[in-house]
Amino acid sequence: MADVVGNKDAKDFAVSTPFANNGEFHVKGASNLDWGMKDRLSRIFNPSSGKTVMLAFDHGYFMGPTSGLERLDLLIPRLAPHADCLMGTRGAIRSSVPATYNKAIALRASSGSSILEDDLSHESMVVGMEDAIKMNASAIAIQTFIGADGQKETIEALNKAVNLGFRYSVPTMGVVAVGKEMERTTKFFLLATRMLAEFGVQIVKTYYCENFEKVAAACPVPLVVAGGKKVPEKDALTLAYNSIQGGAAGVDMGRNIFQSEHPEAMIQAVSKVVHEGFTDEDGYEYYLDLVNA
Ligand code: 5RP
Repeated sequence: MADVVGNKDAKDFAVSTPFANNGEFHVKGASNLDWGMKDRLSRIFNPSSGKTVMLAFDHGYFMGPTSGLERLDLLIPRLAPHADCLMGTRGAIRSSVPATYNKAIALRASSGSSILEDDLSHESMVVGMEDAIKMNASAIAIQTFIGADGQKETIEALNKAVNLGFRYSVPTMGVVAVGKEMERTTKFFLLATRMLAEFGVQIVKTYYCENFEKVAAACPVPLVVAGGKKVPEKDALTLAYNSIQGGAAGVDMGRNIFQSEHPEAMIQAVSKVVHEGFTDEDGYEYYLDLVNA
């Protein structure tokens, strides 16, 4: 075991130096992967912008029908045309999303607890890779609770997914969880995102934090940023803008889109910020223009 006490802190992140091993491929850290992985990653990350707008609507797997997600069958058709990738459970997608959409799917493949419990950190891989392949998933998503009670089992679940992912060329998206006890510091996200990347995931979903550019620089695979609890539209667009400026390869946003009073306008504004270099102000103006049209 390395001696961690008195270890020198990381500090040289070279944040303004682009990732050096991309070759000709547009997804960070993926140039050495095989064709199937690259094909799936290219469905998630637009080859022109290198970025993605994922729409997260998997909340029901531990929260039940939260606000905005009462009727997936009515909501998803309004938003899917503007998303690059749909992130949901197999139950939600099979039951409520038309198979004709032909969108990239980030399939939620871990679970194990519900909001009825105090500790949500005990998750395992519950969706088989065979079923993920049957659903033509472009990635499977496994939540990992670094520093929490469920750390060991969720790291095992993640590594199981990564092993199967390499066997069948299905990317794994490691989801950094923040429970009620877990800090949201630069130090925590540097640790958690890098651990997930070292385990072999092809995408890390995380939260925005102070010094995000260091977190992005130190993670050798793309980061997509979760939206978190609903905030005013302008603030959510600022989060998206800061994330992209800080080196994220996209967002995986849920409540700040589907709980907006104008979800279609919101997702389109987010997409402008992510793919087209709009500032948060420009994105908000675009949002208002759509709302008032
Ligand atoms: C939680 C998730 C959720 O999909 C995600 O956090 C939801 O998105 P948002 O926070 O934007 O509502 O991965 O583990």
